[in-house]
Amino acid sequence: RWNVNKSNNQKNYRENIAEAALWLKAGKVVAFPTETVYGLGGNIMDDDAVKAIFQAKGRPNDNPLIVHIARREQLNALVSEIPPAAKELMDAYWPGPLTLIFKASKNVSAAVTAGLETVAVRMPAHPVAYDLLLEADVPVAAPSANLSGRPSPTTADHVWDDLEGRIAGVLDGGTTGVGLESTVLDVSGESPVIYRPGGLTFEQIAEIVGHVEVDPALLSESETPKSPGMKYTHYAPKGSLTLVRDNNDIPELVAQARNEGHRVGVLTTEQRKQSYDCDFAFACGSDDDLLSTAAQLYTGLRQFDTEQIDVIYSEVFPEHGVGIAIMNRLRKAAGGRIV
Ligand code: TXA
Ligand code: MG
Repeated sequence: RWNVNKSNNQKNYRENIAEAALWLKAGKVVAFPTETVYGLGGNIMDDDAVKAIFQAKGRPNDNPLIVHIARREQLNALVSEIPPAAKELMDAYWPGPLTLIFKASKNVSAAVTAGLETVAVRMPAHPVAYDLLLEADVPVAAPSANLSGRPSPTTADHVWDDLEGRIAGVLDGGTTGVGLESTVLDVSGESPVIYRPGGLTFEQIAEIVGHVEVDPALLSESETPKSPGMKYTHYAPKGSLTLVRDNNDIPELVAQARNEGHRVGVLTTEQRKQSYDCDFAFACGSDDDLLSTAAQLYTGLRQFDTEQIDVIYSEVFPEHGVGIAIMNRLRKAAGGRIV
């Protein structure tokens, strides 16, 4: 574990970045913080490194990776075309939590794209990610640095809990900011389509490109998602999670499950944390600040595991702004269970 927290001195910081970059160049996989979640990086020019990412995570092979870059010029070698809408979006939101899907150039290996004709690229807005990518000087494929199926990691401890012994190391830069993954937007077709809601909102994208579509699979369970990763049950705690539309129904549900002998948890906010008579209540931010909820969500889901909770009830959150991504992750974590 390399400490690259701000409190650490400059010399250590530089040395640790340099060492992690060397490992990356040598074909090892290294976890690093981004502004969304921690990523598990590997050199895209090295197929064995890319394969090692899939292996460390236990990730299905048909799920393509996002390529991370530090400089706009790096994009030219990765894609065969940069549509005007993509240019405007990159001017507005890169670096930031926006992943764009382009038609891939021949240089990008099928190990990265899972054999698709497109490639996902993003420029993270985190000083550690930026310094690492510059130092390594290669595009870096990086999925979230969790075991496949587990909530994405927002701290180096989360990464270590899942991947200790399976990866070369982790750059510990503290807690990530956004707390949810980037928004995945396909710009390879006629009009931009959101494949995965995330840290950058629908409204922010529409502001730049006007019209933006949404993958029908995000609205209806019966459609197959365009983004392979969206079809897996994801982000799931070990306990069984149910979303509850009306907070007033939660006390009764909790009481029932406790009567049946379960350890019961509730995902709520600061405002109501004290009001539930359960084994463990997690305050996922504050009602008046959806960004605080996004930042806490994965820590909360993991906390229920630590507390050995086997039945979890969650409040629902308003579906605007980043709330759309919060509810998308919660629905998946709950396997669609909502009452
Ligand atoms: O915030 C993030 O995006 C984080 C940090 C580390 O950058 N990364 C991340 O990667 O969330 P991952 O692998 O957990 O999720 C990538 C998503 C998956 O749903 C994958 O299927 C989709 O992007 N994806 C990647 N390439 C694609 C492509 N060519 N077409 C469609 N979907 C693609
Ligand atoms: Mg992931």
